[in-house]
Amino acid sequence: MAKYRKFIFICTGGDCKKNGCKSLIKSAKDMVNLDDHKGQYKIVKTKCMDFCKSGPIVVVNNEVQKASTPDKLRELLERKIGH
Ligand code: FES
Repeated sequence: MAKYRKFIFICTGGDCKKNGCKSLIKSAKDMVNLDDHKGQYKIVKTKCMDFCKSGPIVVVNNEVQKASTPDKLRELLERKIGH
């Protein structure tokens, strides 16, 4: 089993799905698949994290990002995982 250095949790519960979690998953994949970072980061699709009204929700290194968008997620990942 691969050993990942960091995990990116993206809620795929009903409300987050309605609010665009699929575009977040795509953005996260694009970033973690860059050559420098291949295989180091694991994207984990989660069930509801109980922040439904503020979704879509992403958690990276214990930081919760509410109302995430691809741009906000990119900024968070650049800060947390150094892209
Ligand atoms: S559906 Fe995402 S936090 Fe509840």
